[in-house]
Amino acid sequence: MARRRAAVEPWLPLSWLQGDALDTGLPSHRFDGAVMAYGLRNLADPGAGLIELRRLLRPGARAGVLDFNRMGEGSLAARFQRFYLRRLVVTVAAQVGLREHYAYLEASLQQFPKGEVQERLARDAGFAAASHRPLAAGQMGALLLTA
Ligand SMILES: C[S@@+](CC[C@H](N)C(=O)[O-])C[C@H]1O[C@@H](n2cnc3c(N)ncnc32)[C@H](O)[C@@H]1O
Repeated sequence: MARRRAAVEPWLPLSWLQGDALDTGLPSHRFDGAVMAYGLRNLADPGAGLIELRRLLRPGARAGVLDFNRMGEGSLAARFQRFYLRRLVVTVAAQVGLREHYAYLEASLQQFPKGEVQERLARDAGFAAASHRPLAAGQMGALLLTA
């Protein structure tokens, strides 16, 4: 899908590589930046994913990690999140035959570290700076990193 979309903009200098985000096999300290969207939550070990990400980046490089934001239980925002994941996202996905691609979302979010824990994991992984910022009224979150 990404390859097909990129073909629409052939001037983008892209090359494609499929691999394990926990063990990419890419050289250390080679990259000036990285982004990950809705990936960290899906890794078996998000802390290990951040260690691998840090290994790839040059000192001073920046990275941004976007994902759902896990909120305090019982807050209005958390209840709203549960509502739209169950009643909107999964329901609509089921109608277009994609139920199994979205049904796991709520459970994966319950295992996902909260923003402040992501910041700590990133600092433990060796990032010089890590700041988690809520987006979309707290429903999503961006982990902003400097190597
Ligand atoms: C919600 S999808 C997000 C995909 C893409 N980033 C996007 O925004 O469309 C999460 C993906 O992470 C992949 N994934 C889980 N663990 C992985 C790993 N260790 N290495 C690479 N991909 C992994 C899953 O196979 C799944 O395709």
